[in-house]
Amino acid sequence: MLDIEAVRRDFPILEKGVIYLDNAASSLTPEQVVLKEMEFYREYRANVERGVHRFSQRASEEYEEAHDEVARFIGAPGRRNLAMVRNTTEAINLVANSLEWEKGDKIVTTVIEHHSNYITWLRVVQRHGCMVEAIRSNVEGIFDMTDFERAIDDRTRLVAVTHVSNVLGCIQPVTEIASIAHEHGALILVDGAQGVPHIKTDVIKMGVDFLAFSGHKMLGPTGSGGLYIDEGQLDSTEPLCIGGGTIHDVSLGSYELAVPPQKFEAGTPAIAQVIGLGEACRYLDRVGMDEVKRWDERLVKKLAEGLSEIDGVEIYGPSDPSQRVGLVSFNVRDMNPHDVALSLDEEYDIAVRSGHHCALPLMMELFDMPEGNARASTYLYNTPEEIDVLLGAVETIAKG
Ligand code: ALA
Repeated sequence: MLDIEAVRRDFPILEKGVIYLDNAASSLTPEQVVLKEMEFYREYRANVERGVHRFSQRASEEYEEAHDEVARFIGAPGRRNLAMVRNTTEAINLVANSLEWEKGDKIVTTVIEHHSNYITWLRVVQRHGCMVEAIRSNVEGIFDMTDFERAIDDRTRLVAVTHVSNVLGCIQPVTEIASIAHEHGALILVDGAQGVPHIKTDVIKMGVDFLAFSGHKMLGPTGSGGLYIDEGQLDSTEPLCIGGGTIHDVSLGSYELAVPPQKFEAGTPAIAQVIGLGEACRYLDRVGMDEVKRWDERLVKKLAEGLSEIDGVEIYGPSDPSQRVGLVSFNVRDMNPHDVALSLDEEYDIAVRSGHHCALPLMMELFDMPEGNARASTYLYNTPEEIDVLLGAVETIAKG
């Protein structure tokens, strides 16, 4: 059972009196992660993999251990399968820039993707003469699997889907989609930005070739994130940048890249952030991802049911709360969602996100809603009482 009082003590920022419900944009950071980053600066600040002196040795050890920790957290075989990057967006761009696209290659994605997992592929279309098919879901964000079976064919090079929508909170059957992709010799990339923080992730069971995720949404520092690369794609996947730290050998006329993950991490990396992300994974493991999920389900059920009972409030996403992870987006009458969010902040000390949530194709194709909506998103330190406060505030706003 999640000890909510103990968890909340680890997040002193909560004492500022803000009810923080913008976790899908960025989570808060526990003291353990802050201290781990400070330890780097105070105790052994130096570059990694470049020095024989004690600071550099210690920094390198901590940096490598963090890779091990994060790799283990997502079920990857080892650190070689994990490139540390700045965020999900960088991870997706790494794959888009690495694949050797051929004219006519097809990319299958969906209308519910975040821009990072959508416009990246549109650029591949513009640059390489490829084509994109975006599969439509129903308004709850639920797909008909036969649409994937029809769209993924032998020309399909890549299937790029999100595990959890950042607007609708719906969970996608990525294992099933991966198996359809592989039947046709296509690769599958999963955007795990909203999934990895909330759902126990096992990349091997998921059967994905690439999993992109952000550290800052899972208690880690900003500027931290990862790209899991399946063993079969490790050699062929090219780094986004090359330079210091990425080489095994260099001569005047040639170079040989280092083994992964070093080949992906050019220049001085975000050392403190990576070490901090390792600590965030340790923290989530101590709490237990099963507990995180149970707590999440409780909060999101209360949130979805409570909001949908308020006169004048419309919520979006799956009607069955068990198919939803960590968030509920909503609109209040014909109010602009930014006004709703501003009122929640200024009058009730509640932080939510508003707007199109970097998912304009979803907003327009499924809802014709250019202004978007307001979104409340939870994490392990939120309480049922905080949800009650939000529900009361939204009810008052809706009464006008
Ligand atoms: N992708 C993040 C969100 O949905 C920033 O808010």
